[in-house]
Amino acid sequence: MHVSVRVPRALYCRRLAVTPIIKTQWWQTHCASCQARSSSSETSPKVVTVEGRQYKTDEWMNTPASILSAIAKRLHLQPDHPLSITRQLIESRFLDHKYYNRLFPIVSVNQNFDALEFPHDHPGRSRTDTYYINKETVLRTHTSAHQADTFRANESSGYLISADVYRRDAVDRSHYPVFHQMEGAKSWDRNCLGSYGTLAERVWADVANIPSHTIKVEDPNPTIHPERNPLQSTYHSVEEAEAMAAHLKRSLEDVVVTIFTAARAAAVAAGDTTASTQEPLRVRWVEAYFPFTSPSWELEVFWQGDWLEILGCGIVRQSILNNAGVSSRLGWAFGLGLERIAMLLFSIPDIRLFWSSDPRFLSQFSATGPIQRFVPFSRHPACFKDVSFWISSTSRSAGGQVAHASARDFHENDVMELARDVAGDLVEDVRLVDEFVHPKTGRKSLCYRINYRSLERTLTNEETNDLHEKFRQQLVKNLGVELR
Ligand code: PHE
Repeated sequence: MHVSVRVPRALYCRRLAVTPIIKTQWWQTHCASCQARSSSSETSPKVVTVEGRQYKTDEWMNTPASILSAIAKRLHLQPDHPLSITRQLIESRFLDHKYYNRLFPIVSVNQNFDALEFPHDHPGRSRTDTYYINKETVLRTHTSAHQADTFRANESSGYLISADVYRRDAVDRSHYPVFHQMEGAKSWDRNCLGSYGTLAERVWADVANIPSHTIKVEDPNPTIHPERNPLQSTYHSVEEAEAMAAHLKRSLEDVVVTIFTAARAAAVAAGDTTASTQEPLRVRWVEAYFPFTSPSWELEVFWQGDWLEILGCGIVRQSILNNAGVSSRLGWAFGLGLERIAMLLFSIPDIRLFWSSDPRFLSQFSATGPIQRFVPFSRHPACFKDVSFWISSTSRSAGGQVAHASARDFHENDVMELARDVAGDLVEDVRLVDEFVHPKTGRKSLCYRINYRSLERTLTNEETNDLHEKFRQQLVKNLGVELR
């Protein structure tokens, strides 16, 4: 049923390159929403200013003003905000690391992709997935954008970077175009072994200092697999990789134990006696792929009946450290999504809530004292509305072209962004519910179901009808579809 293949949301863990990067003219397909905003003036702004910094835009620009305005929010630093509390909880497990919490989100393509050795055809680079300001400048799509620079600065053997990150993606209760990640790294210097004979011995000594736990860990795969999860054999010995992997896994298991112990205590305090609060915690390591680590893994936690992906990690590619001028260092890195962890820590049911200024939400969290479950305020009724359209021969997308475009150029993320642009946080979910190809004409028809629901009040019928009509018109205007 999927129109496009996606890179899974939180993590860049696929090898596949599927989305073509198509260059277009500024006037042709400035992103749907910007076009909407600037339709009255025939040219779009050539320079954008964000917190006093000026950026020249070009035909790659696809970042709406609504996204740029999120930059100022810095939710991960707002006192007593659940994202800030979650950040501090994790920081408390890495007391000897240096924390970077104020790195600016507009970065170069080099920082976000090239320095991390993303292949040139990696789907993450495409304009359908990433917010560009110009050909060379993006809103960071992950905190790893600062990895090379932080290694180069070499201010500490361990660091944590917490920050807002930006991706064009689905609209539903766990996806929002702005979210927050935490990146952590630890490295060791071959020239500073102290009293230890080898680097591996030195690392194992550090492993011994990580608090132990009693949870059940499934880790069925070998640390290194020649095809699936290779050793960087030019640079690392098997012993070094094994030791660093053990340090990485134990450190992150410690984080997970901390988070889930707090989450369970909150559940029990709220009177929850379901199996998930009774059974012992289970976690498992699975093999993964990231362009900038090898070997790589993801950590999953069994939570409320499902395996939940919590983070991605691996041994940092030595070429990244070498290019950062610290070739005597080697180490690991991880990245995790703060919203996902905060949602299960506090039982927050909808990602839009993090952006709420409603005191009924914000007043429930405190950075001092135990974690407490969020008590949802009454849920307002949902209002579903469908829209069906043909992807016509003039359909276009943020990654497509106006003239002679075909279904190939249509990208679901443009529908998603248009819905957000029209309805803001009043849209809860956008889902493809039907698609078919006309047997004679070969044209493709899609039907999307929009769920309009406010977190704060009951929407009137009239209001939702208006929003939906606007959305339909914008689909025609900006994506060139033909309504059915
Ligand atoms: N930056 C990666 C992502 O967002 C996560 C990651 C960080 C993986 C560090 C490995 C090491 O997908």
